[in-house]
Amino acid sequence: MKCLSIPALALSVLTAASARAEEGNATRGAELFAIRCGECHALVPTEDKKLGPSLIGLIGRTSGTLEGYVYSEPMKAAGIVWSEETLKVYLANPRKVVPGTKMNFNGLKRDNELEDVVAYLLQAAG
Ligand code: HEC
Repeated sequence: MKCLSIPALALSVLTAASARAEEGNATRGAELFAIRCGECHALVPTEDKKLGPSLIGLIGRTSGTLEGYVYSEPMKAAGIVWSEETLKVYLANPRKVVPGTKMNFNGLKRDNELEDVVAYLLQAAG
Protein backbone atom coordinates (compact mmCIF):
# COMPACT_ATOMS: atom_id res chain seq x y z
CA MET A 1 0.00 0.00 0.00
CA LYS A 2 1.28 3.44 -0.87
CA CYS A 3 1.34 5.74 2.12
CA LEU A 4 2.20 9.43 2.00
CA SER A 5 3.58 10.82 5.22
CA ILE A 6 2.41 14.28 6.29
CA PRO A 7 5.78 15.99 5.65
CA ALA A 8 5.93 14.49 2.15
CA LEU A 9 2.45 15.81 1.49
CA ALA A 10 3.33 19.27 2.79
CA LEU A 11 6.41 19.27 0.57
CA SER A 12 4.41 18.33 -2.52
CA VAL A 13 1.94 21.13 -1.77
CA LEU A 14 4.80 23.59 -1.45
CA THR A 15 6.36 22.37 -4.67
CA ALA A 16 3.04 22.76 -6.45
CA ALA A 17 2.69 26.27 -5.06
CA SER A 18 6.13 27.36 -6.25
CA ALA A 19 5.54 25.76 -9.65
CA ARG A 20 2.43 27.94 -9.90
CA ALA A 21 4.62 31.00 -10.32
CA GLU A 22 6.14 29.59 -13.49
CA GLU A 23 4.90 30.09 -17.02
CA GLY A 24 2.64 27.37 -18.35
CA ASN A 25 3.57 25.03 -21.17
CA ALA A 26 0.90 25.27 -23.88
CA THR A 27 1.95 22.03 -25.58
CA ARG A 28 1.50 20.10 -22.40
CA GLY A 29 -1.67 22.09 -21.81
CA ALA A 30 -3.11 20.85 -25.11
CA GLU A 31 -2.56 17.24 -24.02
CA LEU A 32 -4.08 17.93 -20.63
CA PHE A 33 -7.03 19.68 -22.22
CA ALA A 34 -7.75 16.64 -24.37
CA ILE A 35 -7.68 14.36 -21.34
CA ARG A 36 -9.30 16.52 -18.68
CA CYS A 37 -11.65 18.90 -20.52
CA GLY A 38 -12.17 17.57 -24.05
CA GLU A 39 -14.86 15.11 -23.07
CA CYS A 40 -17.12 18.08 -22.21
CA HIS A 41 -15.68 21.03 -24.16
CA ALA A 42 -14.84 21.64 -27.80
CA LEU A 43 -11.99 23.93 -28.79
CA VAL A 44 -12.29 23.38 -32.51
CA PRO A 45 -15.44 24.04 -34.54
CA THR A 46 -17.59 20.95 -34.33
CA GLU A 47 -21.14 19.87 -35.00
CA ASP A 48 -21.11 17.65 -31.96
CA LYS A 49 -23.00 18.93 -28.95
CA LYS A 50 -20.90 18.37 -25.88
CA LEU A 51 -22.01 18.52 -22.27
CA GLY A 52 -20.28 21.85 -21.68
CA PRO A 53 -20.21 25.06 -23.75
CA SER A 54 -17.72 25.47 -26.59
CA LEU A 55 -14.64 27.32 -25.39
CA ILE A 56 -13.87 28.81 -28.80
CA GLY A 57 -13.53 32.58 -28.30
CA LEU A 58 -13.56 32.14 -24.53
CA ILE A 59 -10.94 34.77 -23.65
CA GLY A 60 -12.73 38.06 -23.03
CA ARG A 61 -16.16 36.43 -22.96
CA THR A 62 -18.37 36.90 -19.89
CA SER A 63 -19.30 33.68 -18.09
CA GLY A 64 -22.60 32.12 -19.03
CA THR A 65 -23.13 34.08 -22.24
CA LEU A 66 -22.44 31.73 -25.17
CA GLU A 67 -25.59 31.86 -27.24
CA GLY A 68 -27.42 28.58 -27.69
CA TYR A 69 -25.95 26.95 -24.58
CA VAL A 70 -28.12 26.43 -21.48
CA TYR A 71 -26.04 27.44 -18.45
CA SER A 72 -26.83 27.03 -14.78
CA GLU A 73 -28.22 30.11 -13.03
CA PRO A 74 -25.09 30.49 -10.85
CA MET A 75 -22.82 30.55 -13.94
CA LYS A 76 -25.02 33.17 -15.61
CA ALA A 77 -25.06 35.25 -12.42
CA ALA A 78 -21.29 35.00 -11.83
CA GLY A 79 -20.40 37.73 -14.33
CA ILE A 80 -16.78 36.56 -14.62
CA VAL A 81 -14.84 37.86 -17.65
CA TRP A 82 -12.59 34.99 -18.74
CA SER A 83 -8.91 35.92 -18.73
CA GLU A 84 -5.63 34.34 -17.60
CA GLU A 85 -6.30 35.46 -14.03
CA THR A 86 -9.96 34.47 -13.76
CA LEU A 87 -9.37 31.11 -15.47
CA LYS A 88 -6.59 30.25 -13.03
CA VAL A 89 -8.84 31.00 -10.09
CA TYR A 90 -11.87 29.19 -11.54
CA LEU A 91 -10.12 26.07 -12.83
CA ALA A 92 -8.33 25.50 -9.54
CA ASN A 93 -11.69 24.90 -7.87
CA PRO A 94 -14.75 25.50 -10.08
CA ARG A 95 -17.37 24.61 -7.50
CA LYS A 96 -15.88 26.91 -4.91
CA VAL A 97 -15.65 29.87 -7.28
CA VAL A 98 -19.12 29.33 -8.78
CA PRO A 99 -21.14 27.43 -6.16
CA GLY A 100 -23.90 25.45 -7.86
CA THR A 101 -22.21 25.31 -11.28
CA LYS A 102 -23.15 22.26 -13.31
CA MET A 103 -19.53 21.83 -14.40
CA ASN A 104 -18.81 18.55 -12.65
CA PHE A 105 -15.07 18.93 -12.24
CA ASN A 106 -12.96 19.06 -9.09
CA GLY A 107 -10.28 21.38 -10.38
CA LEU A 108 -6.72 21.25 -11.66
CA LYS A 109 -4.60 20.67 -8.61
CA ARG A 110 -1.46 18.78 -9.60
CA ASP A 111 1.96 20.15 -10.51
CA ASN A 112 1.75 22.65 -13.29
CA GLU A 113 -1.57 21.49 -14.73
CA LEU A 114 -3.34 24.77 -14.12
CA GLU A 115 -0.64 26.93 -15.75
CA ASP A 116 -0.30 24.57 -18.69
CA VAL A 117 -4.02 24.36 -19.46
CA VAL A 118 -4.44 28.14 -19.11
CA ALA A 119 -1.40 28.75 -21.36
CA TYR A 120 -3.06 26.53 -23.96
CA LEU A 121 -6.44 28.27 -23.61
CA LEU A 122 -4.82 31.69 -24.05
CA GLN A 123 -3.37 30.42 -27.33
CA ALA A 124 -6.24 28.36 -28.63
CA ALA A 125 -9.39 29.96 -27.20
CA GLY A 126 -8.65 33.64 -27.83
C1 HEC B 1 -17.78 16.69 -16.88
C2 HEC B 1 -17.82 17.71 -17.90
C3 HEC B 1 -16.84 18.87 -17.80
C4 HEC B 1 -15.47 18.81 -17.65
C5 HEC B 1 -14.60 17.56 -17.51
C6 HEC B 1 -15.01 20.17 -17.74
N1 HEC B 1 -16.08 21.02 -17.88
FE1 HEC B 1 -15.99 23.06 -18.06
N2 HEC B 1 -18.01 23.15 -18.07
C7 HEC B 1 -18.86 22.07 -18.06
C8 HEC B 1 -20.23 22.52 -17.98
C9 HEC B 1 -21.48 21.63 -17.94
C10 HEC B 1 -20.18 23.94 -17.96
C11 HEC B 1 -21.36 24.91 -17.81
C12 HEC B 1 -21.41 25.26 -16.31
C13 HEC B 1 -22.66 25.97 -15.83
O1 HEC B 1 -23.49 26.40 -16.63
O2 HEC B 1 -22.79 26.06 -14.60
C14 HEC B 1 -18.75 24.30 -18.02
C15 HEC B 1 -18.27 25.61 -18.03
C16 HEC B 1 -16.96 25.95 -18.23
C17 HEC B 1 -16.46 27.30 -18.38
C18 HEC B 1 -17.30 28.55 -18.44
C19 HEC B 1 -17.63 28.78 -19.90
C20 HEC B 1 -18.50 29.96 -20.22
O3 HEC B 1 -18.93 30.03 -21.38
O4 HEC B 1 -18.76 30.81 -19.35
C21 HEC B 1 -15.11 27.20 -18.56
C22 HEC B 1 -14.14 28.33 -18.78
C23 HEC B 1 -14.76 25.81 -18.50
N3 HEC B 1 -15.90 25.07 -18.29
C24 HEC B 1 -13.49 25.31 -18.68
C25 HEC B 1 -13.13 23.98 -18.48
C26 HEC B 1 -11.77 23.47 -18.59
C27 HEC B 1 -10.57 24.28 -19.00
C28 HEC B 1 -11.82 22.15 -18.26
C29 HEC B 1 -10.66 21.17 -18.12
C30 HEC B 1 -9.65 21.55 -17.17
C31 HEC B 1 -13.21 21.82 -18.01
N4 HEC B 1 -13.97 22.95 -18.16
C32 HEC B 1 -13.69 20.55 -17.68
C33 HEC B 1 -18.49 20.75 -18.09
C34 HEC B 1 -17.21 20.27 -17.92
